[in-house]
Amino acid sequence: MINRRYFLKGSFLAATGLVVLNPSKTFADDNHEYSGIIYTKDNPGKWSKKVKSHAPSATVEGKKVTVKTMHGMSEAHYIVKHTLVGKDGTVLAEKTFYPKDKAVSVFELDKVPKSFYVTSFCNIHDMWVSEYSS
Ligand SMILES: [Fe+2]
Repeated sequence: MINRRYFLKGSFLAATGLVVLNPSKTFADDNHEYSGIIYTKDNPGKWSKKVKSHAPSATVEGKKVTVKTMHGMSEAHYIVKHTLVGKDGTVLAEKTFYPKDKAVSVFELDKVPKSFYVTSFCNIHDMWVSEYSS
């Protein structure tokens, strides 16, 4: 479990670091080398049948950002965490889930960026990233 946790944390840091190095490109444009580590709706890799249930979505209403993953939650299979990440790689908000929770996060920010990333970690189907742009 420790190794998986470090792997996921490292994957996330690598993804956000690459975003900082290439701010003019989208995540999907420039992260094909992370295939098999980080998944998106455009690059679902081995989880191509899991896009709808794993790619997170975000909606913004004023200063409130709601992140959802349309994924069931059980002790054996659940969404572990959501993060909201700025284009510069700054983690703006995060929420860790328990299996009894719903995979929905509501974040109140002082200022909501025009574009950002949301991540969703499944304990079986790995890390997924989606982009939001207003
Ligand atoms: Fe899953």
